[in-house]
Amino acid sequence: MSSTQPLLQPYRLRDDSLANRVVMAPMTRSRARNRELLPTELHAQYYAQRASAGLIISEGVWISPEAVGWHDVPGLFTDEQVAHWKPVTDAVHDAGGVIFAQLWHTGSASHPDFFDGRAPLAPSAVNPGLLAPTPTGRKPTAVPLAMSKRDIQRTITDFARAARNAMAAGFDGVQLQAGFNYLISQFLNPRTNVRTDDYGGPIENRARFLFEIIEAVSASVDLRRVGVKAGPAWSERGEFVAGADALADSEHVIGRLNDYDLSHLLLMGMMADPAAGPLKDLAGDEMFRHFRKLYQGTVIANVGIDQHRGNALLADDLVDLVAYGQAFIANPDLPARFASRAPLAEPKPDLIYGPDVAGYTDYPPLQG
Ligand SMILES: Cc1cc2nc3c(=O)[nH]c(=O)nc-3n(C[C@H](O)[C@H](O)[C@H](O)COP(=O)(O)O)c2cc1C
Repeated sequence: MSSTQPLLQPYRLRDDSLANRVVMAPMTRSRARNRELLPTELHAQYYAQRASAGLIISEGVWISPEAVGWHDVPGLFTDEQVAHWKPVTDAVHDAGGVIFAQLWHTGSASHPDFFDGRAPLAPSAVNPGLLAPTPTGRKPTAVPLAMSKRDIQRTITDFARAARNAMAAGFDGVQLQAGFNYLISQFLNPRTNVRTDDYGGPIENRARFLFEIIEAVSASVDLRRVGVKAGPAWSERGEFVAGADALADSEHVIGRLNDYDLSHLLLMGMMADPAAGPLKDLAGDEMFRHFRKLYQGTVIANVGIDQHRGNALLADDLVDLVAYGQAFIANPDLPARFASRAPLAEPKPDLIYGPDVAGYTDYPPLQG
C-alpha cells in the first residue's frame, strides 16, 4: 500500500508540519528574465504546481549584486524583489506547501561579464577552473579578486539581510548554500582559500566565514528556520576535487552545526562513484550513514535517489527527508506519482534553463 511508504509519511520540521518526506531540491531555472532579477507570475505558478512536496527549497537566490554568477536568477536584495517573491510564497502556501529560499553567492564561480569586466570576489585570487553560465554562454572562470576583511564583513551582512528579506517575503525559512563550488565552499576549500589571516589556514579558520554568517543571520531570523547545504561532495571539477582533508574538514563543519538549533542539513551523496580517492568510503548510502552519526538534527539526503532507495533510506533511519531535483522538473506532482508508483516523466534537457513556460510550467500532473 502506497500510504505505508516512508516517503509519504508526514514529518514535523521544527514548527512546520510537512505533508510528506519528499523535498523538492533547490534548482536554478533561469526564468527571471528581467533586468531587476525579479521573480514573476511564472515562478508562482511553477512553485505552486510543486507544492505537494513536503518541503520546497527554492532555486538559489542572490544575496547581493556581487553574488551573481548565473544568468537570469532572481535576487532577494531589493525591496522590489521582496515584493515580487510575496505572490510566489503566497501561491505555495495557498496550495498547502512549505517553501524555504536558498541563499546563494557564487564567488569565483562567476564571471567578469556580470560585473562590467571586473573580476568577481572570492576568498583568494585563485581561478577555480570552472565554467560560468553567462548570458552569452558558458565561459571559463577568471582569477577573482581576494576579498578584504571589509568585503567579508559586508558579505556576511548581505547574507543576514537576504535571510531577513526572505522572511519578509513570506518564505518559511532559508537554506544557506555552503556546498558544491560556491563562495562558502571556496572558503572551506584549502585549494581556493590560501588566506593567511583568520579566515584561512586550519579548518577552524576556513569555516569561520560560514559560522559568522550563521551568527549574523541568527540576529534577526530564528535559526530553527535556517538550514545549511553542506558536505564533502563537491562538484569534483576544477579546484573542487576532494583532497586528503576533505572528509575531516566536512566532519568539522557538520559537527559544529550541532552547536546551533538549525532547521536541517541538506547532505549530497557523491555525484559519481568515488572508486578511488579520499572519499571512497562514502560511496552510496555510506555518506548518510557516516554523517547521521555526527549530526543530531534533521538530515535531508540528495543526489540520484529513486523512489525505492528513498523509502529504504528512511526505513533504515539514515535520514529524515529525501530531496529530489531532476524528478521534480517534469513531475510537478511527484508525491502523487510515488503514491501510485506511476512512471516518471523525463525533463526536456534543452528547456531546463529557459527561456519561458516551455519545459517549466507545462509539464502536466498525472491526471492531466
Ligand atoms: C537544473 C538544476 C539546477 C540546480 N540548481 C541548484 C541550485 O540552485 N542550488 C543547489 O544547491 N543545487 C542545485 N542543483 C542541484 C540539485 O539541488 C540536486 O542536488 C541535484 O539535481 C541532484 O539531485 P537529483 O539527482 O535528485 O536531481 C541543481 C540541479 C539541477 C538539475
